[in-house]
Amino acid sequence: MTNSKTATAAVPTLDPADIFTKAYNFEQADDLRNAGLFPYFQPLGGQIGNEVNVNGNRMVMVCSNDYLGLSQDRRVQQAGIPALEEFGTSCTGSRFLNGTLSLHEGLERDLAKYLNKEDALTFSTGFLGSLGVLSALVGRREIMYFDRENHASLYDGARLSWGELRKFRHGDLEHLEFLLKKDADKAVGKLIVTDGVFSMSGEVADLPGIIELARKYGARVLVDDAHSTGVMGPNGRGTAEHFGVEDEVDLIIGTFSKAFASVGGFLAGPADVVDYVKCMARPFIFTAALPPAQVASTHESLRILSSEPDHRERLWKRVALFREGLSALGFDTMKSEGPIVPVLIGDFDHALGFWKQVWDHGVFALPAVPPAVPPGECLIRMAVNASHTREEIDRVLAVFAEVGRATRMIP
Ligand SMILES: Cc1ncc(COP(=O)(O)O)c(C=O)c1O
Repeated sequence: MTNSKTATAAVPTLDPADIFTKAYNFEQADDLRNAGLFPYFQPLGGQIGNEVNVNGNRMVMVCSNDYLGLSQDRRVQQAGIPALEEFGTSCTGSRFLNGTLSLHEGLERDLAKYLNKEDALTFSTGFLGSLGVLSALVGRREIMYFDRENHASLYDGARLSWGELRKFRHGDLEHLEFLLKKDADKAVGKLIVTDGVFSMSGEVADLPGIIELARKYGARVLVDDAHSTGVMGPNGRGTAEHFGVEDEVDLIIGTFSKAFASVGGFLAGPADVVDYVKCMARPFIFTAALPPAQVASTHESLRILSSEPDHRERLWKRVALFREGLSALGFDTMKSEGPIVPVLIGDFDHALGFWKQVWDHGVFALPAVPPAVPPGECLIRMAVNASHTREEIDRVLAVFAEVGRATRMIP
């Protein structure tokens, strides 16, 4: 048995009895690194506004999820300090045991009020929220209907649950109805699960259509509003508010790592369901609670995004400017409507080549490749935020124009 990747680099080991064999033989990332084409895990050396320092180079950031620009808001930054001083750096325990603070409960109360739901529960990340809600709620023989392009955390939540998974083609409600109809005579719990805004393409789910089918076939509806809470709808209450169907969505899950400029996840819905998840979800119970400073900053973000609509107004003006600019140049921005603006490239090699040129021009945007997107549909995933200046947007558009012409993506 060999014991290091370096030792095996020249002669890959084939020892099937060594669990490390797959790691020793994993070369795709190294091949790309050696070719200077590995886009991921780029260390940022600091950030001022939307400019980041990467290896001494100043780059304009256009792929963060800080949609309202609140990560740089002094009020959000300062809000963490008294909590840190009063409660310490960590809860050093689970919410179930010593880790429930008055801060958590205060945030949950105000979040539920904001989202017009009976109750809310916070998780240590949005990913854990997806795992916790689906694994606690979906029992043996119960059925989840998933849009095929749902987020990875939902798929992993489905795997942790005891229920059955049915996938419908992305955005294809005829296919969803076909699946529901096939199960119509099964008297078991059914849950339709969809991203509100899809995390790679920025497309918005057809919630009114999904709700209609849910009512017709007796299913509940869960929306993952990670990319919608704080930004979609007149008051930022998410995809359901955007469509005017808030009362008809049973459960909303989401994250604090995007518009809230913090970290953490949440569930909002009927009090009995929230309490059941609170008492049953292993990814909630067997992990440390959100740290005090993070909860306090999140709460301040909630206060700001629920009471200061101008951040959203600025966001949407910039998104429109950016998306229209890219379309006018001849790029395919897919069916994006939310704050995420993709540029469709196509195959893997082209996506990396395109990314590299954009990167070398000082634009921090990254490619999305399988499994995050379907094969052959690689894209450059971008998002502008409320604090991008017109100059920054014009600079990025100029780079896309130049690289697009050089690579013959656009005329
Ligand atoms: C749709 C969706 N759900 C859940 C998550 C997980 O959120 P978190 O970063 O809080 O773990 C993400 C994050 O990328 C997401 O895009």
